[in-house]
Amino acid sequence: MTRELERAIADKSAKVGVIGLGYVGLPLIRAFIGAGFRTMGFDVDQAKVDRLMAGQSYIGHIPSEWIAECVGDGRFEPTADMSRLAEADVLLICVPTPLSESRDPDLCYVEDTTRSIARTLRPGQLVALESTTYPGTTRDVMLPILAESGLTVGEDYFLAYSPEREDPGNPDFSAEGIPKVVGGIDPESCRLAEMLYRHAVVKVVTVSSCEVAETCKILENTYRSINIAMVNELKVLMDRLGIDVWEVIDAAKTKPFGFQAFYPGPGLGGHCIPIDPFYLSWVARKSGTPTRFIELAGEINTAMPRHVVRRLVEALNDAGKPLRGSKVCVLGVAYKKDVDDPRESPSFVLMDLLGAGGAELSYHDPYIPKMPKVRNHDLPDLQSSELTAEFLAGLDCLLIATDHSSCDYDFIVRHAPLVVDTRNATKNVVEGREKICKA
Ligand SMILES: NC(=O)c1ccc[n+]([C@@H]2O[C@H](COP(=O)([O-])OP(=O)(O)OC[C@H]3O[C@@H](n4cnc5c(N)ncnc54)[C@H](O)[C@@H]3O)[C@@H](O)[C@H]2O)c1
Repeated sequence: MTRELERAIADKSAKVGVIGLGYVGLPLIRAFIGAGFRTMGFDVDQAKVDRLMAGQSYIGHIPSEWIAECVGDGRFEPTADMSRLAEADVLLICVPTPLSESRDPDLCYVEDTTRSIARTLRPGQLVALESTTYPGTTRDVMLPILAESGLTVGEDYFLAYSPEREDPGNPDFSAEGIPKVVGGIDPESCRLAEMLYRHAVVKVVTVSSCEVAETCKILENTYRSINIAMVNELKVLMDRLGIDVWEVIDAAKTKPFGFQAFYPGPGLGGHCIPIDPFYLSWVARKSGTPTRFIELAGEINTAMPRHVVRRLVEALNDAGKPLRGSKVCVLGVAYKKDVDDPRESPSFVLMDLLGAGGAELSYHDPYIPKMPKVRNHDLPDLQSSELTAEFLAGLDCLLIATDHSSCDYDFIVRHAPLVVDTRNATKNVVEGREKICKA
């Protein structure tokens, strides 16, 4: 079976199936099509499949024309029919790995997908998990389910883990330009996975096991979470000392070694940084080895929206206004700049807190025209407001939660009476700086 699959990967006749066509899966399809492979895309969400079949993209940086072209000429076949999983030679899993209500790992999507694969698994298939997860998932969760097929891993079929490192909205890196770490359940699985990914990405880094590859991804995200927490904590201190934390970071990053800049913000958002470290702390608790750094970073980052609202209330107070009844517009509900992804956005917490304090809320986001429905948040039913001179002048405060590049910050500061800036988006604004409160 190895030889056949090896040949198909080498001559690119292998059909690459991607399961989960979201922010990670769709760019991965693009990387493999770019490398010359035919692809199938599997998703349980029929609405997504229908849109793709109609040549429509739902991810900002993937153009609809490209989808239409690839679906049209058969290089990309989207389907919701999981009984067709055996048609692909390679199955790359990009399904969500969220936290449960009790903030423990929720692997239900990975387990469901693995069960679907096990039902149709055939000799000669390579399966690789890309979803972020805790060390041991591929071996302890996936392998036993796949074993129910009666096939033998490393002989009949192959199993690997290769974490996705997609950075949506970053124009400098697309999926194919980011090195990929690969660990196999056995040496043969690792070798075949390496062969495959080498076609599609700039560099493949193999490691000795799935566990190393799984931990590598969580280390990367934990590193970000902890460093962001550190600068968030320093921001609160420097606010009190009257020192601009962004100026301090810009000065520190002129050191050519031993320092990497991280920036404070209104709290953590997105599908990765606020969630992934808790996958590791869950494993740590199970093994009786607490990870205090992770818990502390979580506490500090979670407290940031309250700090921002406190600063906003102080700034309104300085202008003789109470929060209750004040018109506050939140700029940005996407969790980071230049993307349309609102998952885990701290803007929702900010809006909850401001709404509870009696503020009259509006929002602006060039990428999110209508306020999404979000679990655990009681958000007003709003449309994105246009930031006209009249609208801005009628506000009591504009709160910058996301520093989208397309916003005109000179214009905003010129017309709004007060601007609370959590991202240093107004750093180049010259006129009206007395109206800016950094928070
Ligand atoms: N978004 C990022 O920037 C990013 C970066 C690196 C890693 N990751 C990781 O990649 C994984 C996927 O994240 P995402 O942002 O692409 O999520 P997403 O929600 O955008 O997409 C996941 C897709 O999987 C589909 N799905 C769910 N269950 C399925 C099943 N059983 N079979 C088939 N399809 C199924 C969903 O309908 C959805 O379309 C997560 O583990 C995440 O942590 C995400």
